[in-house]
Amino acid sequence: MANEDQFKKVISHAKEYGYVFQSSEIYDGLSAVYDYAQNGAELKKNIRDYWWKAMVQMNENIVGIDAAIFMHPTTWKASGHVDAFSDPLIDNKDSKKRYRADVLVEDYCAKIENKIEKEVKKAAKRFGDAFNKEEFVSTNGRVLGYQEKIDSILKRLGQSLEKEDLADVKALIEELEIADPLSGSRNWTEVKQFNLMFGTKLGASAESAMDLYLRPETAQGIFVNFLNVQKTGRMKIPFGIAQTGKAFRNEIVARQFIFRMREFEQMEMQFFIKPGTQKEWFEHWKDARLKWHKSLGMGDENYRFHDHEKLAHYADAATDIEFKFPFGFKELEGIHSRTDFDLKQHEEFSGKKLQYFDHEDNASYIPYVLETSIGLDRMFLAVFSNSLEDETLDDGSVRTVLKLPAVLAPTKAAVLPLIKRDGLPEIAREIIEDLKWDFNVIYDEKDAVGRRYRRQDAAGTPFCITVDHDTLNDNTVTIRHRDTMEQQRVKIEDLRAIIKKEVDVKHWLMKMK
Ligand code: GAP
Repeated sequence: MANEDQFKKVISHAKEYGYVFQSSEIYDGLSAVYDYAQNGAELKKNIRDYWWKAMVQMNENIVGIDAAIFMHPTTWKASGHVDAFSDPLIDNKDSKKRYRADVLVEDYCAKIENKIEKEVKKAAKRFGDAFNKEEFVSTNGRVLGYQEKIDSILKRLGQSLEKEDLADVKALIEELEIADPLSGSRNWTEVKQFNLMFGTKLGASAESAMDLYLRPETAQGIFVNFLNVQKTGRMKIPFGIAQTGKAFRNEIVARQFIFRMREFEQMEMQFFIKPGTQKEWFEHWKDARLKWHKSLGMGDENYRFHDHEKLAHYADAATDIEFKFPFGFKELEGIHSRTDFDLKQHEEFSGKKLQYFDHEDNASYIPYVLETSIGLDRMFLAVFSNSLEDETLDDGSVRTVLKLPAVLAPTKAAVLPLIKRDGLPEIAREIIEDLKWDFNVIYDEKDAVGRRYRRQDAAGTPFCITVDHDTLNDNTVTIRHRDTMEQQRVKIEDLRAIIKKEVDVKHWLMKMK
């Protein structure tokens, strides 16, 4: 399936099976704002829990907090967001459409990257088993030429953005002859900076109202609480503070479903360290976070690191973990070495000391910070799009199956009486009553059992449990595995253990070791 078709299928499947709806759909929706439906809310919660367990529960020196979305407005002056949290925008004068100038250039490079992929596929076909991809991409003249072009374009873009040379960003767009993807026009305005923060007001009357911002990242709630947590938790450096919560950005272009939203959720962790140790902790967290992603079994080849050319105003090193979405490799998570920038700024703007007393060194200092920051919605899209498959079976028929990692699946098992009489529904209900203490389980008696299996495959349910007439005699049921379609006859009393083995968080997180 072409990538674009695959992406359309992801969006429609997410709606059809109760995962994601457009916000306020009855009023024709709101741009780049989405609601999570009955299954989506469960999947999102399971991803959040999987992250929280790996970061907070499994690490003695990391604790979690839940800070407010509203923060004192000076926070955003101190953090640099008022002055520097902006994206370069460009308008097309003919189509009147607005774009992110850097994204136009990046998309241009992605097209060159597609050419590289095509060359690789062609060569793989030509050489068969003898094909060595690494050797090919490092020696083939055409591929090297494409890669050189990408590197030089991205380098120039990074440097121009770093220097705030927006005229050069426009010049680059013109030199590359980048056209409006919708109209094909090359009639561009100048590039301008656009601040992404949403403003709002706090207070009962217009005169006394205070101007506030909706937080554009959750991280600042952690920084301003750093000393409170350190003291009340008696935390010793190195230690981390984690949090999950909503963030808001007035994105210039938000046309990729839940990939880029105006209201979204982040899962962030700030790791406070001794100055000078940031390089080793940067490597540590790069490794730990990649292992977390890989533990979900979504294909090691679907991840790669992308080091930043242009560093954010607070960072001395930064990399993205990119994932292969249906529209190509894109950022899923950021790992940033934020130095002591934020705490120093908050010290200066608040006038309060934000220092750590190190008993070993008998000295006070402002800690450095290593940050891991992942978008929950983006992770949802990665999991959902990677799991959706149209699988051709041995008999030539096609089944649509959502192969969600079992640990994340919204419903772990569906219990199906073969027919709606002879006492089978009652036994199915008894099984549900017993299993629901440990797992999300559902009852389904409508349609032939084969159709029910397919419905559960498409919804992502890892197990179907069928109660039939033999159950009445020997207390056994059939358990069907979603991915293999394998069926086993098992005792009702063994169901809990069979399901637990596959959905247990420990079983999955152990893969990080
Ligand atoms: N505190 C650092 C920070 O916010 P970021 O790279 O701007 O860094 C971190 O954002 C992560 O948040 C990204 O890797 C992405 O997964 C997610 N994210 C950022 N903007 C988003 C948006 N508009 N919609 C959905 N997710 C977003």
